[in-house]
Amino acid sequence: MKLQANYALEHTLPYDHYVNPQIFEMEKKKIFQNSWILAGHTSQVEKPGDFFTFDLADQPLIISRDKNNEFSAFYNICPHRGTKVEKSECGNKKVFTCTYHGWTFHMNGKLNRAPNFGTNELGDHSCMTQVKLEVYQSLIFINLNPEAKPMTETYGEFMANLGKYTFLDSLKKIRVTQRVIDANWKAVIDNYLECDHCMIAHPEFSKTFDMKNYHIDLHDHFSCQYSELTNKTDKDQEEHANFYWVWPNLMVSIYPGKEGNMTTSQILPLAPDKSLAIYSYYFKSDEINEEQEELIRFVDQVREEDFDLVELLQKGFHTNAFKHGVYSPTEYAIKFFHDLYENAISGE
Ligand code: FES
Ligand SMILES: [Fe+2]
Repeated sequence: MKLQANYALEHTLPYDHYVNPQIFEMEKKKIFQNSWILAGHTSQVEKPGDFFTFDLADQPLIISRDKNNEFSAFYNICPHRGTKVEKSECGNKKVFTCTYHGWTFHMNGKLNRAPNFGTNELGDHSCMTQVKLEVYQSLIFINLNPEAKPMTETYGEFMANLGKYTFLDSLKKIRVTQRVIDANWKAVIDNYLECDHCMIAHPEFSKTFDMKNYHIDLHDHFSCQYSELTNKTDKDQEEHANFYWVWPNLMVSIYPGKEGNMTTSQILPLAPDKSLAIYSYYFKSDEINEEQEELIRFVDQVREEDFDLVELLQKGFHTNAFKHGVYSPTEYAIKFFHDLYENAISGE
């Protein structure tokens, strides 16, 4: 796309926002501890007593299924003197035990026994601090703000989009890969939200999809990218894949195909110039077939190509060369993300 004569050059977010420790701390509070964030999938807590731990912006959490099959999320912190309670990443237990003075907790975080007190009447210290949790299409979302509005208020349209895929509830999380990226979390999202770089950086992706008709649609707190396959065979005649970005840090790719499947990417902030990317693959069966392995290989390759780009970007943010960049006309989804970001940061 050529620039129109009347195109007004707009500046991106200042590069300082990608390196500044104070801004990073503010983002953790105003965005990550104040938004609905994907924590995991119900297939990680299939049976009563199953749990997994999850760190969100320095806050250690436990997600569990109790004996009544209810899901709970709570801080992984003992109400007695503040020790971190559960050390493993996942497992199945009857109770959680704090290794300091032996307090034990039910799977929903409520106090079972406090040996050095002899009573459970300990007010708000008789439970690990609860966190808001919602499950939609087997995806477990949490919000650290106790006053948070229900997910439907912000993500109703996105949830309606997911609702179209009737197969989502039957998927299981089959594979997870993690990677620390030497870049600010926003650089990873920025990179995802434009495809100007696709022809240059992703040769195989650009051959697979029709790049002349590549769409990036903006919606309420999410965007959706899609294009038709260049080599459409009969079995692909069904609906095309959709690549969603969901404010602030989640990407969901849905491949309806013959046997629907999904991948999610969570980008979690570790430091101003470091992020943790968690990539999860969801299929109907534990047995991954050849076609699915090929899809995983394809997705991983595109990601590898992107890691190099965002780590190079981060190097630029640290220099004195420029204070910010400029959006091309086809980078409007990055602008959309930055507008949501500024809104969140400026709020009380
Ligand atoms: S700090 Fe956990 S039992 Fe004392
Ligand atoms: Fe890319």
